[in-house]
Amino acid sequence: MTRVLSISGIAVLAAVALAGCRGPGEQDPDDAPDQPIAFYHNVHAGQNQIPCMYCHYSADRSVDAGLPAVRVCVGCHVPGSATAPPAQASLAFPTADRDSTWNAEANKLVSYWKNQEAIPWVRIHRVPEHVRFPHNMHVRAGLQCQTCHGPVQEMEKVYRFSSLQMGWCIDCHRGETQLSAQEDASVQQNSPFIRHLQQVRSSGENVGGFTGVHEDQRASTDCTVCHY
Ligand code: HEC
Ligand code: HEC
Ligand code: HEC
Ligand code: HEC
Ligand code: HEC
Repeated sequence: MTRVLSISGIAVLAAVALAGCRGPGEQDPDDAPDQPIAFYHNVHAGQNQIPCMYCHYSADRSVDAGLPAVRVCVGCHVPGSATAPPAQASLAFPTADRDSTWNAEANKLVSYWKNQEAIPWVRIHRVPEHVRFPHNMHVRAGLQCQTCHGPVQEMEKVYRFSSLQMGWCIDCHRGETQLSAQEDASVQQNSPFIRHLQQVRSSGENVGGFTGVHEDQRASTDCTVCHY
């Protein structure tokens, strides 16, 4: 496992070097900022297969996917954290057989818990103030996190995979963005927009009343749906 770590250490350096050479229009190197703890999604969501929503548990219920509180982290990393006073906290794993970097990162987590401080994670995705993006509508329609966020389960540092530009939103709402067959089937069944459209069509009413309806449209493109 120490070997795994040294390989991933190299991968981090390579990713940083690559990010520096990215061309215009591609991901900005600032999109993968250093975080207060080197928390690896590939270790958690990849190797250990922890479901995305174990940590981002409000993604299907709320506008925000949310970031986990320290309590969620120590639930796995500090034995007895539910009952023992935080001051007594110590690391369950990684332990002595670990490389010092690995241990140092995991021990930072214990310090935040002991001090009862929130971890000041650096935010990566953010739409401007005038835009409304409800996670729940998207997740409940059956879209996968990866369609918008990329292969997060393979990332050491999360970077911004999609542009978050208005054109990116509109392309998908108009049905021009290709989805996997499974996602598409789910969206066809669960999108309130598509259901409403089907009702209008089957009642023989003029669909023209729906502003800008495209053939495969899956969500509204009314300005007021996305803008305050
Ligand atoms: C064990 C908890 C945990 C799991 C499981 C997890 N995440 Fe995260 N996620 C975090 C933490 C902590 C952060 C903030 C630090 C960072 O950006 O790495 C984060 C950050 C993110 C961000 C960037 C948020 C921002 O600032 O814009 C995205 C996107 C994300 N996770 C998606 C996913 C997806 C998709 C999965 C499943 C493949 C997943 N996460 C699984 C804990 C988790
Ligand atoms: C569901 C259990 C679980 C949760 C919740 C969890 N972890 Fe982990 N974590 C693990 C496992 C399993 C490993 C890998 C340990 C190993 O390989 O020996 C790990 C490894 C780590 C490591 C060392 C490798 C790396 O990814 O950097 C750090 C640091 C870490 N976790 C921090 C966190 C933080 C911070 C949170 C909360 C945002 C968190 N963990 C939440 C299970 C969990
Ligand atoms: C349709 C595209 C899309 C899907 C699907 C999606 N996200 Fe997001 N995600 C976004 C956008 C856009 C933002 C920025 C939102 C903002 O600024 O309010 C974001 C922000 C985030 C953040 C930062 C914190 C927050 O709450 O805004 C996390 C964490 C996150 N997403 C995780 C996930 C996870 C986990 C899933 C799957 C369960 C998921 N996302 C599904 C587009 C998506
Ligand atoms: C990969 C496809 C996809 C992307 C990308 C996407 N959306 Fe959506 N969006 C959907 C689907 C599917 C629905 C569900 C249809 C519905 O709610 O009627 C939806 C619903 C919505 C809704 C709720 C509509 C309503 O009538 O209440 C809003 C608001 C929204 N999206 C905003 C955005 C914004 C803002 C972005 C870009 C930052 C975005 N979406 C990116 C597919 C997408
Ligand atoms: C599906 C969601 C969605 C819809 C529908 C939508 N927008 Fe946007 N819009 C966005 C997002 C996301 C941004 C911020 C990112 C960007 O500037 O591209 C944005 C940004 C903008 C901006 C600011 C551009 C800038 O350079 O600052 C204007 C103006 C705007 N939209 C007007 C409109 C008008 C007018 C309509 C209706 C014809 C509309 N939008 C429909 C998602 C949407």
